[in-house]
Amino acid sequence: MSNTQNIVILGGSFAGLSVAHYFLKHILPTLPKNNGTSYHVYLIDSSTHYYWRIAAPRALVGKDMIQQDKMFLPIADGFKQYDPSIFTFIQATATSMDTNARTVTIEHASNSESQSLPYHALVIATGTRTPSPLLSLQGDYKITQNALQEMWGKLSSAKTIVIAGGGPAGVETAGEIGEALNGVAGFFQSRPANPKAKITLLSGSNKLLPMLRPALAKQAEVYLNRVGVDVVHNAKMQSVDSAGAQTLIHLDNGSTLEADIYIPATGVKPNSAFVPANLKTDKGYVKTNGKTLRVDEAGPRVYAAGDVGSYTRGGVMDIYDAIPVVLTNIKRDLQHAATSGASSPSSNNNEKQPELAGNAPGSDRTYKANLKETQLVPVGRSKGVGAVFGWKLPTLMVYMIKGRNYMIDNAVTLQRGTKWEKENGWKPTDA
Ligand SMILES: Cc1cc2nc3c(=O)[nH]c(=O)nc-3n(C[C@H](O)[C@H](O)[C@H](O)COP(=O)(O)OP(=O)(O)OC[C@H]3O[C@@H](n4cnc5c(N)ncnc54)[C@H](O)[C@@H]3O)c2cc1C
Ligand SMILES: *[C@@H]1O[C@H](CO)[C@@H](O)[C@H](O)[C@H]1NC(C)=O
Ligand SMILES: *[C@@H]1O[C@H](CO)[C@@H](O)[C@H](O)[C@H]1NC(C)=O
Repeated sequence: MSNTQNIVILGGSFAGLSVAHYFLKHILPTLPKNNGTSYHVYLIDSSTHYYWRIAAPRALVGKDMIQQDKMFLPIADGFKQYDPSIFTFIQATATSMDTNARTVTIEHASNSESQSLPYHALVIATGTRTPSPLLSLQGDYKITQNALQEMWGKLSSAKTIVIAGGGPAGVETAGEIGEALNGVAGFFQSRPANPKAKITLLSGSNKLLPMLRPALAKQAEVYLNRVGVDVVHNAKMQSVDSAGAQTLIHLDNGSTLEADIYIPATGVKPNSAFVPANLKTDKGYVKTNGKTLRVDEAGPRVYAAGDVGSYTRGGVMDIYDAIPVVLTNIKRDLQHAATSGASSPSSNNNEKQPELAGNAPGSDRTYKANLKETQLVPVGRSKGVGAVFGWKLPTLMVYMIKGRNYMIDNAVTLQRGTKWEKENGWKPTDA
């Protein structure tokens, strides 16, 4: 008998695109095709386009800063290289999942209709969202595009700007806005002579950039001053409301700031509303086995990849480390499911029941988080601070690697999967 097993991937961004291409290129061709079993990959995302949000801090200051058609890339186009009989992209939002029935419910963007999609294997890669639609997708990419356009309009006349959040997104955003509006300080000056706008960055603690050493955080502050940004430490935004065209930002010490533009660049939240509570940490991340990247409590062949998983502190480098691990374990589990049962002729039902198979026996490929100081933070268009694996990088290197164009040319390598042209092989003896 012939049957089709669904491989369902939720989220089509850095992690989900990587999983889908890696699976189609390297895993699917190796699965046994015995007894008519075939596989079909469903990639589900709320947005038709994936967003290179790394470039958001520069993109938000003006239309021509980052080419829009390099920053928002249509997901479906990247998969035209595969036979449509093995791959489908659906613009839909996952709204619930049932680990007993092994289904996810998705709501189609086209007609708001719900569909229950059975899965043989499931990868949760729905990432995180920022409070501001400028810095991450919040549904279809047009929401973000509209937010960017609105920002371009408002910035031209803004006199006061407050940005909350002392992490890289806040620092980068403040630096880009600072240089765009205020220019840079002249030689032997620490601040621009004629700033157009008063720009304040609320750091939220006593230092910027928690992932980097204090000396680099301090250097970032010097570079921010150089483009006319004031950094205020130990002040947290508590609530905001609007007074006409102005935003009032109430701080935790009782003071209130007024701004023409307010941009929250504070912490991210996982996109996991559809995940059952027992599969989530108290912060809402998907409880993931930190070694195998399986979601153990969800039953066989359920995995998490990318920022939504509890195994990572987030970031693209972590995703690139995790992809070969999760795909190797998917491959092993699927091969096991495809062959288990075949060797038990005494079974009263001699049809194979791959759904019932558990994890592959033997050694899993394991993930190990790289916890060394690694982060690149451009501050304005020519400066920046950063470290890689604990090594401090000079400002020129930060510019060359990231500040020049926020690595925008890499976006297409994920869209088309060229990033994963080669399989990152593994043998059980490597374990
Ligand atoms: C401003 C900014 C700058 C950054 N710069 C860097 C950097 O320089 N270097 C770095 O390493 N990291 C950087 N990061 C972090 C990096 O962007 C993340 O690590 C990365 O985006 C995580 O990828 P992901 O695929 O896990 O999830 P995301 O990129 O968050 O994507 C999640 C996807 O899932 C979709 N989705 C969400 N919910 C659902 C649902 N219910 N159903 C269907 N689809 C859904 C979304 O539409 C989205 O496409 C930055 C982040 C921000 C905000
Ligand atoms: C609150 O903090 C801000 C920023 O540091 C400061 O300007 C203000 O004076 C403080 N207000 C009070 C009441 O301490
Ligand atoms: C195919 O299924 C039959 C029973 O339906 C079983 O005997 C046989 O081993 C299976 N073949 C493979 C290659 O798994």
